[in-house]
Amino acid sequence: MATATATAPAKPKHVKPKVADQQMLVGGKWVGSASGKTFETLDPTDGSVICRVAEGDRADIDLAVKAARAAFEDGPWSRMNAAERGRLLNKLADAMETHKEELATLESLDNGKPINDSLAADLPLSIACYRYYAGWADKVTGQTLPIAGPYFSYTRHEPVGVVGQIIPWNFPLLMQAWKWGPALACGNTVVLKPAEQTPLTALRVAQLAQEVGFPDGVINVVPGYGPTAGAALSSHMDVDKIAFTGETGTGKIVMKAAADSNLKRVSLELGGKSPNIVFADCDLDAAVEGAYFGLFFNQGQCCCAGSRLFVQESVYDKFVEKVTAKAKGRKVGDPFDPAVEQGPQVSQEQFDRVMGYIDAGQKDGAKMLVGGGRVGEKGYFIQPTVFCDVADEMKIAKEEIFGPVMSILRFKDADEVIARGNRTMYGLAAAVWTKDVQKALRLANGLRVGTVWVNCYDVFDAGAPFGGFKMSGLGRELGQYALQLYTEVKTVTMAL
Ligand code: NAI
Ligand code: MG
Repeated sequence: MATATATAPAKPKHVKPKVADQQMLVGGKWVGSASGKTFETLDPTDGSVICRVAEGDRADIDLAVKAARAAFEDGPWSRMNAAERGRLLNKLADAMETHKEELATLESLDNGKPINDSLAADLPLSIACYRYYAGWADKVTGQTLPIAGPYFSYTRHEPVGVVGQIIPWNFPLLMQAWKWGPALACGNTVVLKPAEQTPLTALRVAQLAQEVGFPDGVINVVPGYGPTAGAALSSHMDVDKIAFTGETGTGKIVMKAAADSNLKRVSLELGGKSPNIVFADCDLDAAVEGAYFGLFFNQGQCCCAGSRLFVQESVYDKFVEKVTAKAKGRKVGDPFDPAVEQGPQVSQEQFDRVMGYIDAGQKDGAKMLVGGGRVGEKGYFIQPTVFCDVADEMKIAKEEIFGPVMSILRFKDADEVIARGNRTMYGLAAAVWTKDVQKALRLANGLRVGTVWVNCYDVFDAGAPFGGFKMSGLGRELGQYALQLYTEVKTVTMAL
């Protein structure tokens, strides 16, 4: 088959987009920042500047909130039929579909995630999220209440009002969709602050939203830093609700700012240290695959990463050998190469943080089987790294690493692993691998987390709620539950 290479179909070519300097969207207008300041957004493959972006601060947030308030109170938005809001969300989804390749390349450029992941996960999940909430727009209903006496009593589910939304850099398009979908379906207006590392796709989606006809001021996007623009949004006296995704420590700051200003409603999706539990009676190859994917996906930058991998002692050695071999074979490199499975970490800061954890793992006495170093001389690439013989007290078993670092722990039985799995301040997600249905259900009930996957990992759908117990957050995004985050319940009682 000497001609095999000559006749093979050409691989799809994805081109790194050239991006012009970016303004912010306030009240339907693209404007520079009030201060005139800009910041750089960087290409994580080499640290070069992609473009400059308008840097929002308090004055810009103020203007955006005013525009959102006006659109909420008097604009066409407040008079629009609910079904029409749904139609606009569907049109936004259509526009994203049309611009799928463009958005995927922009996401991979700004964040560093492999283009295959952007195309296979971020784009379809984001588009599906908008479509899901488009369907809800005219189905947000209250109840009629059989109260005592000659009264007619009912509830209305009204929009909360002006909503501030602060999102992280690990899934920029998707986090925007999780925030905008339910907020807009319910009739709120929004001011979004994207992460300073990855502002580009949020701005592009906002442009598409303008093009498909969202009225001016309904969506506003103010890029900028957390302690300035983010803090201005979460402490603003005229913002009715703040939704945040990011680090647990930042979530506390946001919640405090909300409490110290106007007691705005708060929803938080924060960190995790999710136990992924492999029993000896599972399909071992499937568990290896699931553990590998559940940890290394998205350069390990997932809030729900299966970063405490508990393996039952009788299959421990075999499992470790198999998963280490997989990690060794993982292709790290240029995110625009369709064969690449792992790109760079998002920033120098995250790179340093993850390398710090790799150091800590070695110092604490865990056994490093593969990886541990950087890849190449430029950019923020880290080798897929596997530690075994990890103990519960070690730093790498307790803290969120947010990088391609797997920690494997050993356990004996179900009771023990439920107790150890729960011994953490977090409670975002967990997974269980077993063929024993009763055991699976016992674990699913016993683990104090917002999502349990059985014989699978990272299965996301706009219809399935996601969020954390304990310090992993407050409230549930996605599904019908997210509608609660974006509505106020009003009781109306009328004498008959
Ligand atoms: P971060 O929580 O500081 O940033 C997330 C968002 O919050 C960004 O938009 C940022 O500008 C904003 N922000 C930061 N400080 C703020 C403040 N004082 N007031 C209002 N908004 C503020 O997360 P960071 O520093 O980017 O990453 C640090 C660690 O956080 C990661 O290593 C990871 O462990 C965790 N993280 C978790 C995420 C998740 O999905 N749960 C996402 C991103 C980070
Ligand atoms: Mg931070």
